Amino acid sequence: MDKEQIKKNYLIKVKEYKDHNKSYYDESNPKIPDSQYDKLKNEILNLEKTYKFLNNKNSPSKSVGYKASKSFDKYKHKVPMLSLSNAFNEEDLYNFEKKIFNYLNNKIKIEYSVEPKIDGISASLTYINKKLLYGVSRGDGNVGELITENLKTIKDIPQEIKFKNFPEEIEIRGEVFIKKKDFLKIKDKFANARNAASGSLRQKDPKETKKIPLNFVAYTFGYLKNNSFNKQSDFLNKLKEWGFKVNKNNNMISTIKDLVKFHKLFESKRFNLDYDVDGLVYKVNDLSMQSRLGFTSNAPRWAIAHKFSADNANTKILNIDIQIGRTGALTPVAKVEPVNIGGVVVSNATLHNEDEINRKDIRIGDVVKIERAGDVIPHVIEVDKTKRKSVSKKYEFPSVCPSCGSQTIKEFNKITKKFDAVRRCINTDFKCERIAIENLKHFISKEALNIDGLGKKVIEKFWDLNLIKKPQDIFNLNYSKIKNLDGWGQLSVNNLKRSIENSKTINFQRFIYSIGIRHIGIENAKIISDNVKNVSNFINLIETKRLDELLNINGIGETQINSLKNFFASSNNLKTIIELSSILKIENKKFNQNGLFKNKSFMFTGKLNGISRAEAKSLIEKNSGITLSSINNNLNYLVVGEKPTLRKINKAKELGIKIISQKDLLKLLN
Ligand code: IVH
Repeated sequence: MDKEQIKKNYLIKVKEYKDHNKSYYDESNPKIPDSQYDKLKNEILNLEKTYKFLNNKNSPSKSVGYKASKSFDKYKHKVPMLSLSNAFNEEDLYNFEKKIFNYLNNKIKIEYSVEPKIDGISASLTYINKKLLYGVSRGDGNVGELITENLKTIKDIPQEIKFKNFPEEIEIRGEVFIKKKDFLKIKDKFANARNAASGSLRQKDPKETKKIPLNFVAYTFGYLKNNSFNKQSDFLNKLKEWGFKVNKNNNMISTIKDLVKFHKLFESKRFNLDYDVDGLVYKVNDLSMQSRLGFTSNAPRWAIAHKFSADNANTKILNIDIQIGRTGALTPVAKVEPVNIGGVVVSNATLHNEDEINRKDIRIGDVVKIERAGDVIPHVIEVDKTKRKSVSKKYEFPSVCPSCGSQTIKEFNKITKKFDAVRRCINTDFKCERIAIENLKHFISKEALNIDGLGKKVIEKFWDLNLIKKPQDIFNLNYSKIKNLDGWGQLSVNNLKRSIENSKTINFQRFIYSIGIRHIGIENAKIISDNVKNVSNFINLIETKRLDELLNINGIGETQINSLKNFFASSNNLKTIIELSSILKIENKKFNQNGLFKNKSFMFTGKLNGISRAEAKSLIEKNSGITLSSINNNLNYLVVGEKPTLRKINKAKELGIKIISQKDLLKLLN
């Protein structure tokens, strides 16, 4: 490439950089991810390093941020608010330290103040005679926007300092940011948390700023009259004493090796923090050394930002696996070429469902961008179709269950009038191997039987060894075989035996949940247990095909009833429940013994209005009464609904039993 061409190339990149600065700083609306921005910045800096003739006033080596917006009064910083150079790896850090040694002409041990780099926007607060007088944004580093009133709305920013030893004039700098959980509430309006903070801070009306909960963490000073501090760490401690928030994760570290170690640890924990961090800042802790080192045109020589890797990466789809869940849902999972995202090696990404694959036209062999955000499972954001080979074929989603070969269906949702995005295996029986295994995993899980020592992996292993094929098998294990398995021994067998024994006592509600019926989660299990009372009633409802009686109990609708019917249409499932009910000690719900209906018995005939039999029965039992299923001298009330059985009414009259209506029953209860 000739000189002209190199220069042309360089200027294109600088122009691009300037435009992105405008979107990022002025419009609070970046067009590219931070990682791409950093890459562009680095490319420009590298070009300048290689070709000394390149330079431009908008280059990242000369400029910081973007000039102040016209909507605010301008404020010239007494001390420029500069940027930080970036390090992406250990080598960059060694180079950073080498430059310091060269500059000082001395190889000494350096102590660093290590601070999380919160991804917000910086602000400067000038206090004169203990009062906050000027609050300013960074702007282009020399001139910022005067946003005092907006900053005053932030609760972390003291407007007046009460401490005796507070400097006469000090400019405190720090980061304004919004917490992840607060961002979630307004995420539709902004691209990310930083834009939300920036946008809100630069509102013309401070009342608008106040609407969004902003936070402030202090980390340095700009101008400071009569500075008496020796160390950055001393200053941070003082900030805390004065009532400013400082980062709880600040640290002191001395060698590059330890910096790298800490970086690695912190990077893996970054998603657990309640604010976004994009790296760590390392500052030479000794302030006199800092002032000896000084600044280059846009960044201090004494500090560097060690960035975290991006939360997305490009990789290739090697295959698409179909996983089958407990409820029969077929979930496609992309097996990808392993790639490091944010310090974690990712080799699987969920593709969600059949519709998602179709919408994005995701194919085996595609180059895709994968994102890993927070604790969620990595997922594909986009397909790079320019990299697709001409032989590539559209992905055919399997029409039969890959595990048992049964038909799969997409259910029609009567309410939304749409077909479900999820395809399901219709085999809810223990005949579909994957569904059976997933059901077993559910059965032993924390909220269900909670069997310690029998985790998901053990279930898979015991399944393969034919030790467990149905839930009831868990209570009849061949321990002498298990004892001799790899990784097992007498001690672990004894522990397993004990936790299985302990799990046998279970309340009715948990038992219903543990069966793993679709649409019967913890809440619905509770409703059913409150109404059905005990497992023999439950089995009776199933065997006599009276599950419809549960309809219209608070929360139990057609979806749940159909799911129950569907589940128990399999004789295997019913058999499992019956067998389990004799193995387990299922505790029934305890009811009030001294209610209004104490020692009173009821019987129903005919259809009730607006309330199911089951619910009416539960109402009576909640008030300490009982319901009978045949008329005898012990019966106190016969409750008559629509179209009653005359024979029952006559019999009641004969025995002198009180005959009441549904209304009368409710009256008895006030
Ligand atoms: S020191 C000249 N300390 O990073 C020193 N900056 O790219 C620069 N930042 O504009 C500031 N956490 O918005 C410093 N603990 C920290 C920081 C931090 C976040 C941001 C700040 C600054 C940018 C530099």
